[in-house]
Amino acid sequence: MKENNKSVKIKFFKGENIPLELHKTRVVQKLNLVPVERRLQALYEGGFNTFRLTTNDVFLDMLTDSGTNAMSDRQVAAMMYADDAYAGSQSFARLHTAVRDVLKKEYLLPVHQGRAAENILANAYIKKKGDLIPMNYHFTTALAHITQYGGRIVELLYDEAYNISSSHPFKGNMNTEKLERVICETGVENIPFIRLEASTNLIGGQPFSVQNMREVRRIADKYGIRVVLDASLLGENAYLVLKREPEFAGSSMGEVISIMTGLADIVYFSARKLSSSRGGGICTNKLEIYRELEALVPLFEGFLTYGGISVREIEAMAVGMYETLDETMICQSPQFIAYLVNSLANEGVPMVTPPGVLGAHVDAMRFCSHIPQSQYPAGSLAAAFFLVSGVRGMERGSISNQRDEEGNETFADMELLRLAVPRRVFTLSQIKYVIDRLSWLYENRQLISGLRFVYEPPVLRFFMGGLEPVSDWPQKLMKKFREDFGDSL
Ligand code: F0G
Repeated sequence: MKENNKSVKIKFFKGENIPLELHKTRVVQKLNLVPVERRLQALYEGGFNTFRLTTNDVFLDMLTDSGTNAMSDRQVAAMMYADDAYAGSQSFARLHTAVRDVLKKEYLLPVHQGRAAENILANAYIKKKGDLIPMNYHFTTALAHITQYGGRIVELLYDEAYNISSSHPFKGNMNTEKLERVICETGVENIPFIRLEASTNLIGGQPFSVQNMREVRRIADKYGIRVVLDASLLGENAYLVLKREPEFAGSSMGEVISIMTGLADIVYFSARKLSSSRGGGICTNKLEIYRELEALVPLFEGFLTYGGISVREIEAMAVGMYETLDETMICQSPQFIAYLVNSLANEGVPMVTPPGVLGAHVDAMRFCSHIPQSQYPAGSLAAAFFLVSGVRGMERGSISNQRDEEGNETFADMELLRLAVPRRVFTLSQIKYVIDRLSWLYENRQLISGLRFVYEPPVLRFFMGGLEPVSDWPQKLMKKFREDFGDSL
């Protein structure tokens, strides 16, 4: 029987249309739901930072999709026949073939995860202080590596991308008029590359169109600048192109993916996202680029046929690479996210729209409009939501920003609480629980107040930073929870 690799639209006879899973569960992991009193204690122990919670206290882990997507039976099976060898492993050969088949790139440099690719690219190409990288929008680790090597970035989204409740299908598009202006003002010699991020993470997992990418390519060719594609969320971007860009309505995932990678000189990715396992890679069709980067892989990562990744994970990456061509696999998370976003929006909860990929994004600036940005509304909302639900989301706002060169706080364009929906991990009843608890919290939002830092690391402070509430608001919120939910967990 031929497998169906296209997403399906199922119409229901009665009631609402709901996303329908095209997979079944075969291995499960038990979850704990601890009482609200323990959750409050866990927040104090973890510095009100959801990164510092342990999974013993977490019910639904919506921190990230990174390395947490469910693996397929085929991926797990492939891990069993991995070929252990320092050099020349057949596992790497299989991954290399998968990259050639799916991403259509000849040369592959393996790295242990996405940010390692960013380190290598910044090391190789940022040659002088002040070199500028135009991009649609930054990702935290990409920005941190560029600035570590003395570079700067400029973000070139259209204004619509900052409009949280929008219906624009491609908020991740790069503003190409601005791009050309920036190139002319800065000088080609000061621009090592242009970076495009698929399914732009920090603005809510929002895609760009193929049409936009073609225009970026045209300008890059005109001025002789390289285009670097961050393909960590390329599968989801391609899926939304199929659904939203009329030219591709009848295309396959493979066709869209290869058009997109074909428009970039360098494609790098976190395989923790792209192919639902571990690892990462940098690939290109240009031998001179491969040569420029080659020496850095053994220096930072490991030999060129493992790059710091275990051979078992390399096998899973290879299988996962082919699975990104399967719309029924890729569509599950965006469909659940759309359900979550639309249901919450119906309850009046301010959400980023249109629904993107990776997760549902709550607009904390409006949810907690009474909390000033200096007291981190998104971080406060993440902590409050964990308290009342056991669901762990991630702050994507000013705590995730880094200070400027003078050490001043920089406020994020958006204060978002991200509720990640890793592929094929949660059930619809769990998603309904999230909707219920978040709607309750919205009704009681005035009880949430701000946070302040008590320990602030100098780099990527959001990971391990420690905060405390500015008042006893968590206790008040817990009291109200008990009043309304009785002895419910
Ligand atoms: N690029 C994008 C677009 C990402 O979303 C990430 C990671 C990276 C690069 C870095 O990859 O984690 O393998 O080093 N995003 C994760 C997240 C951490 O939770 O959104 P990595």
